[in-house]
Amino acid sequence: MENYKLPDPSVIFPVPNIKKVIYIKPTIKNKNIIVGDFTYFADVDFESHVTHFYDFYDDKLIIGKFCQIASGVEFIMNGANHQMECVSTFPFYIFEKWNENVPSLDKMPLKGDTIIGNDVWIGQNSTILPGVNIGDGAIIGTKSVVGSNVPPYSIVVGNPAKIVRKRFDDELIELMLKFKWWDLPIEEIKGLIPVLHNNDLEYVKEKIKDREI
Ligand SMILES: CC(C)(COP(=O)(O)OP(=O)(O)OC[C@H]1O[C@@H](n2cnc3c(N)ncnc32)[C@H](O)[C@@H]1OP(=O)(O)O)[C@@H](O)C(=O)NCCC(=O)NCCS
Repeated sequence: MENYKLPDPSVIFPVPNIKKVIYIKPTIKNKNIIVGDFTYFADVDFESHVTHFYDFYDDKLIIGKFCQIASGVEFIMNGANHQMECVSTFPFYIFEKWNENVPSLDKMPLKGDTIIGNDVWIGQNSTILPGVNIGDGAIIGTKSVVGSNVPPYSIVVGNPAKIVRKRFDDELIELMLKFKWWDLPIEEIKGLIPVLHNNDLEYVKEKIKDREI
């Protein structure tokens, strides 16, 4: 009988002989960072790339499954934003001996949780600003600064990141968003790779429709 083992999302270093690529989920200690199975970072110490993440804001970084996060990507969280409606943005309340209280949360420019979908590819050295929502299957070009939401299966580039094109026609995007292949059991995903990696998109559409999703 074949000695057959399935891919294991609890492994930290999933690429044989390489210690510079990690599955992120098994490395996370911060309860406000939630990451799905098989999402990888092309570097080590993912949490050090999530910055200005303070407990009193209670914001969350939520990343789906099978995302590909290149090296140098930074997630900036809400604590990075200073008060802007007063004449000075200087955060006296952080520093010793100014004896200032932290302003109430309604006085801070909070943008909410940062939410990244599934099978999202984030290019090298990109920055994701607080409260951004990136849809399933989106691609973020190298060195983008993403400050507003990114629709599913679109490609954005630049600073500020703007859509250059949709990846597929509306029919296929709609099918993919219902299909949600990333939620299937690992055995089934393995069997689907010839469909997931096929660039005959009409064939892919028919295959997905055949599954009666
Ligand atoms: C975005 C990307 C995927 C290309 O997508 P694409 O749809 O094939 O885009 P194109 O190459 O046709 O470029 C479209 C336009 O966007 C521009 N563009 C592409 N990537 C860009 C980027 N990262 N920043 C700014 N502009 C970019 C192109 O110059 C082109 O501009 P033009 O229309 O004025 O000529 C690719 O450029 C990229 O950034 N890949 C990420 C690679 C990476 O970081 N890998 C990390 C290791 S996993």
